[in-house]
Order: sequence, then structure tokens, then C-alpha cells
Amino acid sequence: MNARVAPPAGKSKPVAKPAVAKSAAVKAAPSKAAKAPPPKAAKAPPAKAAPAKAASVKAKAPPRKAVEDYGRPGEELLTVRDFFRYAISRFNRAGIAYGHGTSNATDEAAYMVLEALRLPIDDIDPFLDARLTGPERKRLAELIEARVTTRKPAPYLVGRAYIQGVPFHVDERVIVPRSYIGEILGMDPIGGDATLLPDPYAVEAILDVCTGSASLAILAAMRFPKAHVDATDISADALKVAKLNVEESGLSGRVDLHQGDLFAPIGRKRYDLILANPPYVSAEGMAALPEEFRHEPKLALAGGKDGLDIVRKIVATAPKHLKPGGILICEIGTGRAALEKAYPTVPFSWIDTAESSGEVFAISLEALTRPG
Ligand SMILES: C[S@@+](CC[C@H](N)C(=O)[O-])C[C@H]1O[C@@H](n2cnc3c(N)ncnc32)[C@H](O)[C@@H]1O
Repeated sequence: MNARVAPPAGKSKPVAKPAVAKSAAVKAAPSKAAKAPPPKAAKAPPAKAAPAKAASVKAKAPPRKAVEDYGRPGEELLTVRDFFRYAISRFNRAGIAYGHGTSNATDEAAYMVLEALRLPIDDIDPFLDARLTGPERKRLAELIEARVTTRKPAPYLVGRAYIQGVPFHVDERVIVPRSYIGEILGMDPIGGDATLLPDPYAVEAILDVCTGSASLAILAAMRFPKAHVDATDISADALKVAKLNVEESGLSGRVDLHQGDLFAPIGRKRYDLILANPPYVSAEGMAALPEEFRHEPKLALAGGKDGLDIVRKIVATAPKHLKPGGILICEIGTGRAALEKAYPTVPFSWIDTAESSGEVFAISLEALTRPG
């Protein structure tokens, strides 16, 4: 049995036998998750007062075993395979929601088990028959239970998320990174379009607005080896997590973090490439978010009534910060129709990924400013 969670950077071939999601760090955008909330766990019917007769029947029946007498998961489960299988059953029974790196119980279980044991997360097969130590079994049993009872996204529980095989520290100060732009930066050529930034070595200045954990800023610095990257976020908490990631990436000399509103912290500087994965969940989407997504900062998700409040500001201001020939790549979730209605003369190019269609646009300075 194989379960793939996230392949290392550059790998695109899924190695999973069961049906698993295709992209690296499989992602469901918040808006998508809101569109299709998972089945809710069945609610227990309200307890009824037992009739007097039932009491005598009960007295004759053998005493019921407490759940613990059948063995706690940490005691009965011995191998990686045991915990993998148990986690899948537990997640399926509980009807948890996915979308923070995986899209189903099998991948979620594989991810949690492997990451908690600090094993490579791309293939659980080699480890299935490994016996676990007592502390490892205790930790896995607690993590699986916490995933179900708290509904926290798995990356918050294990402290790590992956995009394109690159690990990022995460905790509840920051949204779990899962932008489609990560995959676009991994494409060859960038975005699958040979005319978009044809020479990675010619890109000298990149801006990542709404950087969160700095995942896109770091992936961009890796992809464009000569570039300096500025990254902005309004959240001081998010930037603390971003700082950890930049330090761990070894790219501190090339990635600078700035706190403030969108472009405000960078003055009049211009860039070859601007990346943006802003908050874009509509008010309706926010109201329908599964519990897992409510553990994430609201500031990272809520995009106003139609979800496009921040996107409109980015489209309006980006021309002042793009060099001639510079490109804006922006993720907007399901707002394509609304955006095209708001800017009927702007020729947005839409970049599809393995997991998304029409959710990320690219546009050059010239196309953005062309008189309509
Ligand atoms: C959807 S998250 C994306 C984070 C990161 N780019 C990623 O892909 O994981 C949006 C981020 O925008 C930040 N944000 C919200 N409003 C902002 C604003 N007006 N200016 C700058 N950042 C903002 C939030 O704090 C959050 O970190």
C-alpha cells in the first residue's frame, strides 16, 4: 500500500496506488472547502430518560466493558501500519474536513504518521512494518485523537507543512501554506508559458505581498537564483513565523520581510515579478467554512463581501511597482467572473495547475495599463 502526501520538489509523478490528490502539498483553497463542506459527523440523538422496565433488563445483561478495556490505541497498535490503518478509520468515522495539504483520510493519515515520526513524507511503504517505541505510540495516539477532537489542521498539530517538497514551519499565527502559486513557480517554464519570465537569471527583484509564512517568497528565491525578494504582510504574528522559515531556508541574505499594508512598506520600489496570494474568501464562504479552517487567522482568509476587496487593491496598485515587462501573478480563488466583470478590458491570462483551473492570473505591466 502506498500513500503519497507531497513529492519532493520537481517530482510530479504520483506514486500512490490509492486515489490521492495530485499536486505537491495537495491543496484545497479555503473558498473551495467552503463550497463543499465535508459530511458532518452524525450527531448523537438526545438522551431519553430510560423507562423503569429497561432498568431491570439492564440488570440482567452482563456488565458492559469500558472502552479502555478493549485496549487504548497506544497499547494495541504496534506498527506504523497499525497506526496508519487506525488513523484512516478514525478520520473516516469522524468525518473531518481536509484541505491543508491533503484531500482524503489516507493521505492525511500518512502525512500525520510520517511527519510525527520525522520520516520522509513522500512514501509510507518502506516503514509500514516498523515497530514503534512506547513514546512514539503515545505521541501518535494523542495526535490522531487531537486531529479528531480539536479539528485543528494536521500541519498545526505536527508543526510543519510542505509546498513543492519544501518544508515550512507553521503554527496558528499563520495560515497553512497551500498556494497554487507554489506549483506555478515549480513549472518549467514558469506557469507553463515560455513567454512569461523566459530567463530566470534575468529576474532581479521580486515582491511577495501577503506573504504569511513566507513560503512563496522562499520558493521564488530558490527558483530565481539572482533575485532579491521583498515580502510584506500586515500581521506581525505571521511575520514571526515567516522569519523562522527564512532563517531555516538559509536565504536570509536574499529575502527581506516587511510589516505593513500591501505595498506600503516598500515605498516606490519596482519589481520584475510580484506574487500575491491575498485573502479572498467571500463573506458567504467565510460563513460556511468547516471547523478546520476556523483555526486559521481570519485576516488571512476574509476578502470582504465578494472576496475581492484586497485583490482589487493589488490590481490597482501593482502598476506603480512593476518594471517594464514585469509580471503580476495573483491567486484569487473562485472570483474570476467577478474580476473579469470589474475589469472588462484587462486581458488577464489564467494559469491552470494540477489542482486548479482559473484561480490564478498573470498579467504584465503593459497589459494592466493598456488603455481599454
Ligand atoms: C491567504 S494568506 C497567504 C499567505 C501566503 N502568501 C501563502 O500563500 O501561504 C493571506 C495573507 O495576507 C495577509 N494580509 C491580509 N491583509 C493584508 C494587507 N492589507 N496587507 C498585507 N498583508 C495582508 C494575512 O496576514 C495573510 O498572511
